[in-house]
Amino acid sequence: MAIQYRQNERIFTLNTEHTTYQIKVDKYGFLLHLYYGAKVDGNMDYLLTYYDRGFSGNPPDAGEERTYSLDALPQEYPAAGNGDYRNTAFVLHNADHSECCDLRYVSHKVWKGKYGLEGLPAVYAAKEEGETLEILLEDAVSKIQVQLLYGVLEKEDIITRSAKITNGGKECVWVEKAASACLEFLHGDYDLISFYGRHAMERNFQRAEIVHGTQMIGSRRGTSSHQYNPAVILANKDATEDTGGCYGMLFVYSGNFLCEAEKDQYGQTRVLMGLHSDLFHYPLESGETLVLPETILCYSDQGFGALSRRYHRCIREHICRGKYSKAKRPILINSWETAYFDFNAETIYKLAEEAAELGIDMVVMDDGWFGKRDDDNSSLGDWQVNEKKLGCTLGELTKKVNRLGVKFGIWIEPEMVSEESSLYKTHPDWVMKIPKRSPVRSRNQLLLDFSRKEVRDYIFHRICEVLEQGNIEYIKWDMNRSLSDIYSSKTLPGKVTYAYALGVYDFLEKLLQKYPNMLIEGCSGGGGRFDAGMLYYTPQIWCSDNTDAIDRLEIQYGTSFFYPVSSVGAHVSAVPNHQTGRSVSLHTRGVVAMAGTFGYELDPAKLTVKEKEEIQAQIVYYKEHADLINTGEYFRLSDPMRADYGAWMFVSKQKDEALVSVVMLKIHGNMTVNYVRMKGLKPDVVYEVDGSKGRYYGSALMEAGLPMPIRTTEYPAYQIYLKAVRN
Ligand code: GLA
Repeated sequence: MAIQYRQNERIFTLNTEHTTYQIKVDKYGFLLHLYYGAKVDGNMDYLLTYYDRGFSGNPPDAGEERTYSLDALPQEYPAAGNGDYRNTAFVLHNADHSECCDLRYVSHKVWKGKYGLEGLPAVYAAKEEGETLEILLEDAVSKIQVQLLYGVLEKEDIITRSAKITNGGKECVWVEKAASACLEFLHGDYDLISFYGRHAMERNFQRAEIVHGTQMIGSRRGTSSHQYNPAVILANKDATEDTGGCYGMLFVYSGNFLCEAEKDQYGQTRVLMGLHSDLFHYPLESGETLVLPETILCYSDQGFGALSRRYHRCIREHICRGKYSKAKRPILINSWETAYFDFNAETIYKLAEEAAELGIDMVVMDDGWFGKRDDDNSSLGDWQVNEKKLGCTLGELTKKVNRLGVKFGIWIEPEMVSEESSLYKTHPDWVMKIPKRSPVRSRNQLLLDFSRKEVRDYIFHRICEVLEQGNIEYIKWDMNRSLSDIYSSKTLPGKVTYAYALGVYDFLEKLLQKYPNMLIEGCSGGGGRFDAGMLYYTPQIWCSDNTDAIDRLEIQYGTSFFYPVSSVGAHVSAVPNHQTGRSVSLHTRGVVAMAGTFGYELDPAKLTVKEKEEIQAQIVYYKEHADLINTGEYFRLSDPMRADYGAWMFVSKQKDEALVSVVMLKIHGNMTVNYVRMKGLKPDVVYEVDGSKGRYYGSALMEAGLPMPIRTTEYPAYQIYLKAVRN
């Protein structure tokens, strides 16, 4: 049993293969956090200390016991209003307008299998792979009940946390803030690693010391955002890529989120992850339940690399679902950077012909095929094929493409409407808009109110009508602006951002139920909604609108801390690059895009015969190693922001083969040699390098490394294939 309860001490212990998490119900019924970290034995309540501390109040039941204060004790679900002055996980606005919720233990249940969350994405597991602990807390006055949920995936070293909040009272209350996880550390200095960014430059790695005060990241944009990813690492000061203790917190949600890391007056650290409290004021009627998105926790005592590999496995095997969670992804060519809005059926067909010749599996018709969409100012919402522009029906086009042996995919942006559209003229009341105010425009488009079922249903039917017209096997689901004007004429104020996110999930779920074999790639101006919530529905996400191979090294480096390569949409695009103007060799672009789902975003007709041959060879190489790349263990070999090269490698489960990728970033006169040290190999096994280029022990490759050639050119790249030959 991964979950144990010691009745006498009222201590819950959650054990995974390498970690322990411990909780105690104390004498007053408060739920205290005792420990999370490397596996330990015994009761950890000896860690708690009690002192009479100035200006840290005592709960009424503590009587004369002035040493008992929630302001100093580590808690599982700290609520505001009980003398804890730190950031709390839960803020409740009662019917009498007081802000307080005094949560005490009522009961608990343990069961086999991992809990699920209604309407929300969550880690799933077979019955024998997971266990659930549910602890019920209640406020005796308001009768608000909080069911804390803990999922334990023992083998994966994963613990998930979520909560359900139910109003057991008679009057309406308002949830003002609700985190799903709280980590507490009684002592120690920590760094917070987060991933900031902007459109076309997402998920930059940032490491900062947690000092007294609160450091917070989050999103108020209605999506998880380009600006901060809903994932953080709490690292011991000495933690590195390969050594030291670190904790991951990954929020499985695609809307507004808030992560707060606070070092308090006693040097204790509290980190909260949950829904953002801004633009959130959730009315909970009598009998109603609010389900919180979950946070995936993981601890590694072997640095960030091991932590990442655990998250990769968890996402691949317990978040991504459906056929494509396992099946090989098609290599695709997308029309966006090839033609933008300027295409017809002939253009797409030609692209498919080129694709067939090159060995590409699928052609994707991006934005511009519907309504009167010849630029990004009109027609969103009018999901009717523009047959005049295409010059034929969608059915005819897909048939022709399929006849070449090429699959067909299509771009949609269901959540949006252009003011210049028939949909807007018919249903101006369907947009997110505050009464008497004009809504904020972004990319000249407005948001449909996806918190409303009738709006979703209408769009769903229009999109299905399109999908029925031909053999469409892939959808790129885009979302090209942030939410603003948070108001809905149907959904109660305070619920809108949450209901919007659940509306998107509901739509995606219905789409997958109707088209179980459809591959959906998520996208929000590239990686503006790159999160574990979306990955539950869309096993791959367009990582960034920036396809520059050198910028991608940094973007994909940051992305790799939580998300597996199989989720990272990456394409080879034309040079000079459309976002940066930089020119990098086709080989280097290929090497970088192969750390992802792999595809192309250029016009092959503009390539030379030699370049086409090179692409054919790239595709053969990728297909040959697709399993190793997508299911192998991923190792970061350098930090491309600081090192002279960007390098990473994939190692098979049996460690009998590996693929190392290196992109040289610096070139100088009379250049020094760079040695790339490998990871994850068997030290006592001999590996053959690229067929016949030498045989070396794993230990040598890992300890001393391989020298990289010096070439007087910018950004040369290498792919080194290692095969175990003997022990
Ligand atoms: C977004 C996407 C692009 C492309 C355009 C189309 O920016 O990220 O890849 O699909 O929209 O408008």
